[in-house]
Amino acid sequence: MRAVRYTGVGAAAEVTELVDIADPVPAEDEVLVRVGAVGLNPVDVKIRAAGSDFGPIEYSTLPGWDLAGEVVATGAAVASLEVGDAVFGLARFPRAAHTLAELVAVPAADLAKAPTSWKVEQQGGAPLAVLTAWHAFEAAGLVGDAAGKRVLVLGGAGGVGHLAVQVAKARGAHVIATASAAKHPTLADLGADETVDYRDDAALAAIEPVDVVLSTVDDGVPPLGAIREGTAVITITGFPDGAVEALRAAGATGLDRIMVSADGAALAEVAALADAGRLTVLVDRAFPLEEVVAAQERVESGRVTGKVVVTLP
Ligand SMILES: NC(=O)c1ccc[n+]([C@@H]2O[C@H](COP(=O)([O-])OP(=O)(O)OC[C@H]3O[C@@H](n4cnc5c(N)ncnc54)[C@H](OP(=O)(O)O)[C@@H]3O)[C@@H](O)[C@H]2O)c1
Repeated sequence: MRAVRYTGVGAAAEVTELVDIADPVPAEDEVLVRVGAVGLNPVDVKIRAAGSDFGPIEYSTLPGWDLAGEVVATGAAVASLEVGDAVFGLARFPRAAHTLAELVAVPAADLAKAPTSWKVEQQGGAPLAVLTAWHAFEAAGLVGDAAGKRVLVLGGAGGVGHLAVQVAKARGAHVIATASAAKHPTLADLGADETVDYRDDAALAAIEPVDVVLSTVDDGVPPLGAIREGTAVITITGFPDGAVEALRAAGATGLDRIMVSADGAALAEVAALADAGRLTVLVDRAFPLEEVVAAQERVESGRVTGKVVVTLP
């Protein structure tokens, strides 16, 4: 089968190649998936640039974690999926998973049946990003009915952010999202109640206190005016020096940096929301496998709206 491989640590154009390697064989609790689309995430390009020094996430020269595709074989112990099922998932994360390939062996527990209302690009693009939002809101206690809660998403237009906006909205929250002004109409279409330009200090300072903050922005810190006693603040990127102390002094709780993990059960709930018409995935751009270098460079631009996806025939 064809697969993407990194020849070493470096720039995408220098170290990315397409290779022919042996087909994977699923273990007892795994299924073999013929891959149709793979979401490309910042972690894919950061780990390529950093190599095995990249914290707790396992480095492999064979990259990729997101996938959507069709089950073509099942391990003996798999009862939840059958050959022919359309599935999507975040495979093995934070262990290596090698999903940027024509075939991938994935633990059945990491997969769910894909929402039929989404195109395969959306199915493949969603898992890591939507599970990050899902797990962050769990950490913040924003689960179940969140009617009456105010939620601030820093970085509302990115892969994680645009899904976080919709998940919070689907739970009934009042959602405020930061993004550059050109992206405000898109965020309003996704359900954001208020949009704030992150370059406009006065607008940031005018955000009234919220119950939950999710920061998806590198070194993102919410404006202190948005914090009151008990505001749960979660980051997926880390806080800059001194920010935690200032936020705690303003009353913030939590202040954790969470890390997403594979979670097929949560993806089944995501699929139900999608097929109920309450969650969509914006595809910034889909690239064929042969253009995986350009796809990585698009992610590295930091300017995407929604998800960058790699498609396979
Ligand atoms: N801890 C975890 O488990 C976990 C999981 C997923 C992702 N992450 C990390 O979280 C970060 C975001 O991931 P992602 O996939 O959402 O990235 P992404 O899709 O590449 O995010 C790009 C978006 O960020 C927006 N943006 C940039 N600077 C901003 C700012 N100061 N304020 C508001 N928006 C801003 C950009 O909007 P403009 O073009 O308008 O600037 C763009 O729409 C990455 O660092 C990633 O590695 C961590």
